[in-house]
Amino acid sequence: MISAVNITKTYIMGLVEVHALRGVSVDIKEGDFVGIMGPSGSGKSTLLHILGLLDRPNGGGITISGRDVLKMSDDEKSRFRLSKFGFIFQDYALVPELTALENVIIPAMAKGMPPDECVRTGMKYLGEVGLSDRRGHIPAELSGGEQQRVAIARALVNSPDIIFADEPCANLDSENSRAVLELFKKINEETERTVIMVSHEEWHKKYFERLILLKDGMVSEDKYL
Ligand SMILES: Nc1ncnc2c1ncn2[C@@H]1O[C@H](COP(=O)(O)OP(=O)(O)OP(=O)(O)O)[C@@H](O)[C@H]1O
Ligand SMILES: [Mg+2]
Repeated sequence: MISAVNITKTYIMGLVEVHALRGVSVDIKEGDFVGIMGPSGSGKSTLLHILGLLDRPNGGGITISGRDVLKMSDDEKSRFRLSKFGFIFQDYALVPELTALENVIIPAMAKGMPPDECVRTGMKYLGEVGLSDRRGHIPAELSGGEQQRVAIARALVNSPDIIFADEPCANLDSENSRAVLELFKKINEETERTVIMVSHEEWHKKYFERLILLKDGMVSEDKYL
């Protein structure tokens, strides 16, 4: 489903070149639950952003569902992301002025879903993350774990094929982290969605089906667990 070949990414910082990725190749299959781990600065976020078409590599190729995604225009990429991908970030990235339900339906509205269907679909996913009764709350009125579950509902609202999550549990205590991981597992098992998640917590490994370890911008290990 995702085939990335020899991906390189170099950041130029004044006179210094930072080689964030030095030739990463990964083949991710439909329905995989992949953990990307490795030391800080090893290129995990860079790789996730490149696979999720949020950033461009300097070299290499990526095909997703048979499409050469690096050849797409920015508009095509945005549409592709909206219909195929869901994103979850460490800091939840919710809009502070909007209610839980309004946050969840942003991607559906952006995709052009009619308003009444947005509300129906949004409520369905808020229900799936156990937050139906919090629909009218703004993020400041929700706990960190609840905010991250709103972000997960938002990531699911357009029925994406692939969920990308960059350290989604980094700001959560272990109980809320477990709830988020269980939710990913359920989404992965029940709907065969691909989940690609960056983590630095050893205990998260038991949830992953496959582990990709990065070191100094290269894959140092890639195995099914
Ligand atoms: N926008 C940027 N400009 C310059 N350098 C960057 C940029 N983003 C990342 N880097 C550098 O690229 C390397 C890889 O960064 P990346 O954020 O992918 O690491 P990471 O594995 O996600 O680390 P962490 O576990 O700390 O989140 C690091 O050396 C980082 O400093
Ligand atoms: Mg990172």
